[in-house]
Amino acid sequence: MYGVARMSVIALGADHAGFTLKEDLKAWLIEHGHQVIDFGTHSPESVDYPDYAGQVAESVAAAKAERGVLVCGTGIGMAMTANKLPGIRAAACGDTFTARMSREHNDANILALGARLTARETAVEILKTWLETEFAGGRHARRVEKIAELERARRPREGRE
Ligand code: RB5
Repeated sequence: MYGVARMSVIALGADHAGFTLKEDLKAWLIEHGHQVIDFGTHSPESVDYPDYAGQVAESVAAAKAERGVLVCGTGIGMAMTANKLPGIRAAACGDTFTARMSREHNDANILALGARLTARETAVEILKTWLETEFAGGRHARRVEKIAELERARRPREGRE
């Protein structure tokens, strides 16, 4: 097992465009010892991506899953939706470099993938890199904390003394 052994519960979600890739990634995750919470979709029938992004983001924000993986056509709609929830840092990644940076610098807790842009093997490499890479902390922690400050500033009655 590689460096993500302690990150064992992964929430998964996809729309119709991401359904097949989500199934492939689910099989890969299980094969590599992870637990998955699959919020669907469970068929290629047309659905609305925010319904799935919202469920996965809720699950990660509530610490029911350590991290989340979302798949739509581009990854964009999934990331946009997930990032509406406080505490969520979703990154749409199309290669292993952005995947690694999203963890090392941004402490991303949700990975969004685009099934119409990313081949299965590339998606697996992106996922593996993303799961293995630790947050670097240091100056990056200060910057990530500033994201949280912006969230708190918009929610004055919540998350403040
Ligand atoms: C669905 O056609 C498509 O819009 C969706 O999968 C996603 O790419 C949105 O960001």
